[in-house]
Parts: sequence; structure tokens; C-alpha cells
Amino acid sequence: MLYTWLSTLAGGALVLYVSLKIFFPYFWEDLLYCLRRKRLKAIIKKRASNGILSITDLFMQRVEKAPHKPFIIYEGKVYTYQDVDKRSNRVAQVFLHHGALKKGDTVALMMGNEPDFIHVWFGLAKLGCVVSFLNFNVHSRSLLHCINKCAAKALVIAEDCLGSIEKDFIFHLKDNNVTIWLMSTSSPFQHVDTILDKLDKVPDDPVPSHLRSVTNQRNTAMYIFTSGSTGFPKAAIITHLRALSASLAFMQCGAVSRDIMYLTLPLYHISASLLGIGGCIELGATCVLKKKFSASQFWNDCRKYNVTVFLYIGELCRYLCNQPSKEGDRVHQVRLALGNGIRPVIWKEFLMRFGPIKIFEFYGSTEGNSFFLNYTNKIGAVGRAGMFSKFLHSFELLKYDVWKQELMKDEHGWCKKAPIGEPGLLVVQVTQETPFSGYAGNKEISEKKLLRNVFVKGDVYFDTGDLLVMDQNGFLYFSDRVGDTFRWKGENVATIEVSEIIGMMDFIQEVNVYGVSVKNYEGRIGMAAIVLKPDQPFDGERLYKHVVDFLPSYAQPRFVRIMDVMQITATFKHQKMHLVNEGFNPEIISEPLYFLHEPACSYIPLTREIYKKVVSGEIRL
Ligand SMILES: *[C@@H]1O[C@H](CO)[C@@H](O)[C@H](O)[C@H]1NC(C)=O
Ligand SMILES: *[C@@H]1O[C@H](CO)[C@@H](O)[C@H](O)[C@H]1NC(C)=O
Ligand SMILES: *[C@@H]1O[C@H](CO)[C@@H](O)[C@H](O)[C@H]1NC(C)=O
Repeated sequence: MLYTWLSTLAGGALVLYVSLKIFFPYFWEDLLYCLRRKRLKAIIKKRASNGILSITDLFMQRVEKAPHKPFIIYEGKVYTYQDVDKRSNRVAQVFLHHGALKKGDTVALMMGNEPDFIHVWFGLAKLGCVVSFLNFNVHSRSLLHCINKCAAKALVIAEDCLGSIEKDFIFHLKDNNVTIWLMSTSSPFQHVDTILDKLDKVPDDPVPSHLRSVTNQRNTAMYIFTSGSTGFPKAAIITHLRALSASLAFMQCGAVSRDIMYLTLPLYHISASLLGIGGCIELGATCVLKKKFSASQFWNDCRKYNVTVFLYIGELCRYLCNQPSKEGDRVHQVRLALGNGIRPVIWKEFLMRFGPIKIFEFYGSTEGNSFFLNYTNKIGAVGRAGMFSKFLHSFELLKYDVWKQELMKDEHGWCKKAPIGEPGLLVVQVTQETPFSGYAGNKEISEKKLLRNVFVKGDVYFDTGDLLVMDQNGFLYFSDRVGDTFRWKGENVATIEVSEIIGMMDFIQEVNVYGVSVKNYEGRIGMAAIVLKPDQPFDGERLYKHVVDFLPSYAQPRFVRIMDVMQITATFKHQKMHLVNEGFNPEIISEPLYFLHEPACSYIPLTREIYKKVVSGEIRL
């Protein structure tokens, strides 16, 4: 009797197991992932009850636990957790002594990758200031816009970023009552304060801890600029909660305190600052910080410092694969990489070449309210809509007409879901658990990122601006960006901003900017279709000078196409899709094409020879 009973039970369990395997092959992985995510949320909550409410709090805890553990290694020099703590105290003391800042003030930070970026960041955080990271490639008009948007009271600028700044700009900031602090011992400008010379003159004691105390984790911790979807860069609001959650990403992938992280991406991006530096603090790990990514030094550095994990963007992996093969390519201790934008082909090549490295591809945006992580062994997927993901966030892929650049609606005006296997616009429901914090000083633009009344009256979704495809098994794949941005060299380019700047030229009547893909490059490179004013010739030299003065290099349109008329869509938007598809091939396009040629300091006619050289890679873009 007992025997029959037991065998029935065992049989039942076996049937259950087998049917799970067949019908829900990812059941366990989905469940584990969901539980892990839930656990991380619980960790943040529990810590909050112990007074850890911000990254700075977390950092202070690490300093207490392991003061002598190396935190940053930069150009061979080691900075322990305590070293960083002390130097950031000094930065805070300088501002405190100067009486320049109060708790809650916003301070813009324009620095490249170096330890002082982190010292200033934490120094300001210890004073309770909101730090706003600026992209140092951006200058003139855009930069002013950034500083105004986040209502910065002060700008801290590294000496090596000063070169790209015009004198007018300094005066302009002064007029706007923005104080400027230079990370240097002396200043070439009057009225520009210096920091480095003052650091030795103040104690390295902590500033009063009530300054940095956080009352609500949903308050703003920092601003990180993003091109979002339209117009000038926007300051995405990063709350303390968001910053702490982002810092957990590496731990989620299985990184531990023994790990040594190699960080080559720019710190002003959320990925390097929060996933990277925040992630190290979370783990209590060590970060080898690099001024700039170098494909030829990458593996040597990894060997030299015993690097075990790194952060990537798709381009980085591609550049590494493009390096000539070496015998020692697989000799290293790297075991894990986290990042986004790696293409399946490159991913395979990367593993073949550099050995078994676990690659965790994630999907998420600076301002977005969700985060997807590839947690199953599926090449190319950015994430998964597992059985349990509904407990984490509620997202949908909406049917989208790429030609008209708009959502497809049913007869009642509700959105439609994209069928399996077809690209749809990813939207994520805005809830208490997955809030959208918006952009600083711009209610209107924040509202534009939201879709209301999608399926029922009153529902709200965050519009990611990305098209994704879901397959039969619920895996999500990135397909394309829609609308007004494209990515090039890891940066978002906002087509409207570029159009506005090109439109300032007096010989141009109309501009339409878009991104075109080039073989063997990630993302899309900028191209501008322009209509000239009647009887005005195209002036390549002047356009070149203008573009170089006003736009960071990744946003400068590499190709120009002269059109007689600009086609528009039924809703009066510029037609982009057919232009994007036609690309820049002079064999296909009969209209005049130009090419931004640095040696000539001009836009020169795009000949077939140039086209061939670009496509073959002889001319590097
Ligand atoms: C700057 O500060 C001065 C003096 O406090 C004030 O008069 C002026 O209006 C301020 N300018 C701006 C643009 O806020
Ligand atoms: C890297 O690891 C090796 C072997 O474990 C060790 O001898 C060496 O000192 C380490 N190098 C660094 C920079 O930590
Ligand atoms: C997805 O995750 C698996 C397991 O962690 C990993 O082995 C694989 O490399 C990842 N693939 C991509 C494209 O991210």
C-alpha cells in the first residue's frame, strides 16, 4: 500500500518535472531570477531601516568595514576606500569653508575619468548636494542648456576639459550666477576658483553627517544627462533608490568582493558611474579605472591587474575583436562582463577568441523605469519575459508603424499589442514599484515620455523609444530605436538638436537628420539631408567649421545629401525611413552627396572611391 502510494508520488513528481522541462523549459531560471530580484529589493529595504539610504551611506559603511582595501587603481596608483573617503572629505571641506554651497544645491561636474571625479562626486554628496554629470564632449550652446536645465549653482571642471570651453561661456555662467571651480592649482581666468591648491589647507575630517542625510529615498540623488528621445540633452532624475538599485547589477550577475573590475567607459554615463563605481562599492570590490578605452591595452591591463569583470558597450567588444589575434588572447582571468549593445555575431566571435567569459547583456535606459537582464543562456537576447516577470514589472510591446512613425491603434483608439516575432515599441507601466522620475526642470518633456490611456482609460506607460521583438519563448531582442535619436559610438544622438544647429547656417533652408548604418560598425552614423535656399550654393568648408564648433564629434553628420524638396509624412513629420534605407551609396542616390573629411577641414563630394574606402574600412569612421 505504502509502496504504491510512494511510487505514485514519485511518478507524479517525475511527470511534473518532465512536463515543466518540456512546456516551461525556463521555469526554474525564471523563478530563480524573479526571487533574486525580489530579494534585492528586500536588501535595499532592510538596509534603509539600518540607515543606509544612499550610495554615500553605503560607501561610508564600506570604509568602516575595510578601510585599507584598494578601491580605485588608476595609472598604477592605488587608492584605498579610506583614501577616497579622506580626499572626498577634503573636497567637501573646501566648499564648506568657502560657504559656497548649501544642502540641496545642484553642482555640475565636468571631468574625464580620473580618481578626482569620484572624490568630487562624493565630496559634494557628503554636503548633500545633487551632482549633475556633464558629458565633456558637449560644448557651447548644449552645455549652457545642460547647466541651466539642472539649475546648477556651481560647475566643477577638470583642467583638461577647459580646452573645449570658450571664454564667452565662462562669462555667461558668471552672469547667471553659476560659480566655477577649476580642479587645478591656478586659474587662467579671473573669478574662477580653484580647488586643488586648497585641498592641503583643509583637514580631512568628515563634514557634519546631517548634511548628507537623506530623508526620502525617492529624492533626487543626481542628474545624468541623456538624449532621451528629442531635442537637447535632458537631465534625467536619478533618485537614491534608483542609484542603489543600479549598483546591485553586478552582484546580480554573481560578482563578489574579490572581483577586480576594469572600467573604461565614461563616468558621466549611468553605466560606468552607478553600475561600475556604485557596483564596486556594493561589492566592496576594486576598480581599475582607465582614462579612456584602448583596444590595444585592454588585455594587457587585464593581465597586469588580474581583472576579473568588466563593463562593456557593443562597440568595445567589436574593437577588441578587430585587434590582430595574439597567442596569449585567452590568457587572462576575466570571467564576467556586463553591458549592452553586443551583437550576436560579435558575441560568438568574442567568446571563440577570448575564452569562456560569461556575458550578461542588459537592457535599460538612464531615465527608464525598468531593467532587463539576460539571465538564461540565449545568444542575442537582452532579456526575458519569463513566467514571473509580471511580478517585477509590467511591460508591453505595442504595434508600431515605422513608416509613419506612430503607434497603430484600433477603432476605439486603444493601442494594439505587437504579435510574437514582430517588432513593437517597448513600454513599461508606471507604478509605485516602477516609477518614472522624469527630467529636471522640464515637466513638459517628462510628460512626452509617457503614454496615457494605452489599453484602458487612465493607465500610464513609459515610452522607451525602442523597438524590441519577443520570440515564442518570451525572449526579448533589441530591434531598433524609433523616432528622433540614434546611437553612435555609445552615445545617443538627438536628431532635432543636430538639425537645429545645422539649420543655423544661412544657406540652408531645411534639414532632416538621421542615422545610417555602415557595415562593421555598431549603431548608426549621422547623415543630414538638406534643402538649400534658392540660388545658394552648398558651402562645405563653412558647414564643417560650424559643425565642429557646435557639435561633439559623435553627433557631427558624416554625410550630407542635398535634396530638392523634403518629403513629409501624413502627419507633417519629415520622412526618415526611406532616407535611412537608402543610406549614402552614390551608386543608388543620384542627388549630390558630401562627406565630412577631416584632413580637408570640409565636406567634400562623396565619390565612389570614398564610398568604397568607407565600406571596406580603409577610411575609419
Ligand atoms: C545674480 O545675482 C545678483 C546679485 O545677487 C542678482 O542681482 C542677479 O539678478 C542674479 N542674476 C541672475 C541671472 O539670476
Ligand atoms: C595577480 O595574481 C598573481 C597570481 O595570483 C599575483 O602573483 C600577482 O601579484 C597579482 N597581481 C596584482 C597586481 O594583484
Ligand atoms: C546570456 O546569459 C548567459 C548566462 O548567464 C550567458 O552565458 C550568455 O553569454 C548571455 N548572452 C548574451 C548575449 O548576453
